Amino acid sequence: MSIKKPHSSPSNPSFSSGPCAKRPGWSADALASALVGRSHRSKPGKERIQEVIDKTRIVLGIPSEYKIGIVAGSDTGAVEMAMWSLLGPRSVDVLQWESFGKGWVTDIRDQLNLADIREIKADYGLIPDLNTVDFNNDIVFTWNGTTSGVCVPNGDWIPGDRKGLTICDATSAAFAMHLPWSKLDFTTYSWQKVMGGEAQHGIIVLSPRAIDRLENYSPPWPLPKIFRLTKNGKIDEAIFKGATINTPSMICVEDALDGLNWAISIGGLDELIKRSEDNLIAVKRWVKSSKDIEFLAKNPITISSTSICISIVAPWFKNLDKKEQSYAAKTICSLLDREGVAYDIESYRDAPPGLRIWGGSTIETSDIESLTQWIDWAIGEVAEKYL
Ligand SMILES: Cc1ncc(COP(=O)(O)O)c(C=O)c1O
Repeated sequence: MSIKKPHSSPSNPSFSSGPCAKRPGWSADALASALVGRSHRSKPGKERIQEVIDKTRIVLGIPSEYKIGIVAGSDTGAVEMAMWSLLGPRSVDVLQWESFGKGWVTDIRDQLNLADIREIKADYGLIPDLNTVDFNNDIVFTWNGTTSGVCVPNGDWIPGDRKGLTICDATSAAFAMHLPWSKLDFTTYSWQKVMGGEAQHGIIVLSPRAIDRLENYSPPWPLPKIFRLTKNGKIDEAIFKGATINTPSMICVEDALDGLNWAISIGGLDELIKRSEDNLIAVKRWVKSSKDIEFLAKNPITISSTSICISIVAPWFKNLDKKEQSYAAKTICSLLDREGVAYDIESYRDAPPGLRIWGGSTIETSDIESLTQWIDWAIGEVAEKYL
């Protein structure tokens, strides 16, 4: 049945799950002081990079004994760096419940050729049984599965006295969800997610135990320069003091700093998390009020507040085969795109057909509320073709 077009539109139609929306009020003026054309190894260059590291520590509440570095290759580069540098001496438990976790399994099994690995997996919408994880092993997991909208509820399942290391891909969680640093040994994320920074670089956060592993274990495989965190068997301190392994973009550095300054100006991590949680609350209200949609995440405590994945469960949609569902979801998204009210909200290519709305901290809750009205309209429009 057709639904009237809403009168008002989101003030920002960017709801992509990466690169994600810029902070409210962002313009290219934020980059005016970028140290373009200067060496990143110049005094001001290093100071600017160090400022990003220092403010990252402040906003994320990272303990002083943990090290923070900026690396190449975005989050993928950061996770690969962790796996190639640390894995090998212990068995590995890899948790996967959506596309990115699955990707890390492939690397560990087929590229690093580690035989002693256990895949602990679940289908889209579910999370594996976290009680089956063996913490004598090294653990690789994604805090928030961006393609299924399912996240771990907290870090309580990770013991403080574990023997193995935890390698955590936190790219769509950092800044929007509480990360318990005492439970995480090598954490990664990239700038273009929750903070809406420019894409290019990854951040690594290393616990003392991860540093100890780096200083006392050399992997049997060759380690490209871009992954090397040690020098003469000791951690390369310079990397964590603004001397990156290779050249960063000073425009990206400036933008990351702009995001951190914004975070500090609004009240820091608690406010960032609240903004994202408020967005999820708005979507929950919408899901509750509609018979046509559900969260893809089956267990309410695992519903992501950042990559919010929505299944369409209206009977007309459920009666379609997967290819037709995919086409119908695409049509809904095209309608919204054409109206200029929502860009890039189709579910990830490997995920079940549906919608994925970014609800990270840069998104205004009023925009989410407006968007949901537009989605109701677009679903109504597409439904007419099938009824
Ligand atoms: C959970 C997760 N891991 C890794 C990646 C890859 O990130 P990047 O493009 O920053 O390398 C993404 C990107 O969306 C992601 O969501």
